[in-house]
Amino acid sequence: MPAPKRVLMTSPEHFDVEYVINPHMAGHIGDIDKTAATQQWEALRDAYENLDFVVEIVDGLAGLPDMVFCANQTLPYLVLPSGNDVVSAPAGDPKNMNKGVVLSQMFARERKREVSRYARFFEDIGYESQPLCTNTSTSFEGMGDALWHPFRSLLWGGYGFRTDVAVYPLISEALGVRVLPLELTDPDFYHLDTCFSVLNEETVLIFPGAFQPDGLALIKKLFQNVLESPEDEARALFSCNAHCPDGKHVLIQSGCTSTNGLLLRAGFHPVELDTSEYLKAGGSVFCMKQMFW
Ligand code: ARG
Repeated sequence: MPAPKRVLMTSPEHFDVEYVINPHMAGHIGDIDKTAATQQWEALRDAYENLDFVVEIVDGLAGLPDMVFCANQTLPYLVLPSGNDVVSAPAGDPKNMNKGVVLSQMFARERKREVSRYARFFEDIGYESQPLCTNTSTSFEGMGDALWHPFRSLLWGGYGFRTDVAVYPLISEALGVRVLPLELTDPDFYHLDTCFSVLNEETVLIFPGAFQPDGLALIKKLFQNVLESPEDEARALFSCNAHCPDGKHVLIQSGCTSTNGLLLRAGFHPVELDTSEYLKAGGSVFCMKQMFW
């Protein structure tokens, strides 16, 4: 897919930890510093704006404390000209392409009501919205688990905790793209975006301990450069939930010293941001935004 230039974020006034649906949330109910959370969210928004991205805001809703993690409710896509397997940037000018979102079916009951708000946001700006399938017990958590490989009609599909592997053949068929499923094995890394961040067409930042050996082999086969973040930074600081929006700058939780060294040696510029209030809910930079065209 061509690189998206627009960023969606959800305002944090209702962000909180009110239940536990991943291991990071345990012990943090009622523990959010709202002032700090607001400042951290504003700093992330400013970081995107400083890199010349347009940030659009959906207001958070009362009673939906995880809505701020707006990567999870949809999977935005472009409808590729038929017969074009690989989309190069000029051939794939998003202006001339139809756009859509696959709607998630959230795993946790507490988050299910979030999806319709994002469906409406995308429909209002001209996207088609595709419900996933009719079986409501099958779950899919959008760009928490399904991540585009830049400039290819190729989707990496995490499964095992939140997303059901059975959704990927449906998505592959509906969008006409190849999907490479990756099984996740460690509950701390419950979404693919907690252990796998595609930095550019050749480079991915991963925590290898979150994958099965065959998944790891596939990653190493398709990416020329695989940067392996150390366990302490991946687990406690969500180093692999970093986001590289422009192929160069990497927005990352502050304090990931070894990971930043890897990024610098590979020619990237780490931009450190404090997302400590959001780490208590099991998310960091990558989950707090949705990119779209
Ligand atoms: N508390 C949220 C949940 O467990 C955090 C989601 C973070 N998002 C992500 N893409 N990793 O659903």
